[in-house]
Amino acid sequence: MKFAVIGHPVGHSLSPAMHEASFRAIGFAGSYGAVDVAPEELPAAMKRFVAEGYRGINCTIPHKEAVMPLMDTLDASAVKCGAVNTVRIEADGRMTGFNTDCFGFALSLEEACPSFQWQGAALMLGAGGAARAVAVACLEKGCTSLTIANRTRAKAEALADALRVHYDTPIAAIGLDELQAADFSLIINTTAIGLKAEDASALPATYFKAGQVVCDIIPVKRETATLAVARQAGAIGVGGLGMLIHQGAEAFRIWTGQEPDVAAMTAAIS
Ligand code: ATR
Repeated sequence: MKFAVIGHPVGHSLSPAMHEASFRAIGFAGSYGAVDVAPEELPAAMKRFVAEGYRGINCTIPHKEAVMPLMDTLDASAVKCGAVNTVRIEADGRMTGFNTDCFGFALSLEEACPSFQWQGAALMLGAGGAARAVAVACLEKGCTSLTIANRTRAKAEALADALRVHYDTPIAAIGLDELQAADFSLIINTTAIGLKAEDASALPATYFKAGQVVCDIIPVKRETATLAVARQAGAIGVGGLGMLIHQGAEAFRIWTGQEPDVAAMTAAIS
């Protein structure tokens, strides 16, 4: 069975190594590649994957939203998250879009902090492609309020409006420059701050406190400055590799109905 991750760029993706390690560990006859697809080539590329017998595609930046209208069916997870990161291609070529980022984020947090209580005030930095799945996870899991702080305030407001259609939880939208230190039990960085090794922390140390959980969803092995500053302030830091692993593991279950080797996936990228 053939699978691939598509993105633009996609060369940095850890997904091929992660999935192929699991394929080897469970004796699954499959291959998983990384294919660079430019935005304007997306419809033709999806047709080509179907014609070439691919059975599953993961979508990363910038395709998660653009791929939605190309699907024959959207799973409820994709509708809620407003994005597709997992495409299942049936034997007859029909495509169903799912979102496993939400599942992956929630499970990675719970795995890293088994005693974490979702009931509390959550702060999410960023309102881009990755943010909505994270927000949906917080709201589904029962956070008591969600503050979305984004550099471009209008994008935070648009995301809050889209979420209020599905959830009654209080959701505030503010500019990153308007953010005040407050009693958040959970802070999540979904911005691009930290992608570059030299990036500073997304927030100054005064925003972090002991007992708080701080997640940085950037999937890198190194500790980001945000996590380093948060840990120094006594917060519990959660990196982004767990979310990457669990979204991928769930995608494999959706494609095959089989259980992947999560330990092998973890070892391959850690
Ligand atoms: P992704 O799909 O990974 O979320 P994205 O959709 O490009 O990527 O979103 C990037 C997010 O990081 C956005 O919230 C962006 O803020 P803007 O909406 O104002 O562009 C945020 N971001 C990127 N660089 C940033 C920076 N230097 N400071 C603050 N926020 C930044």
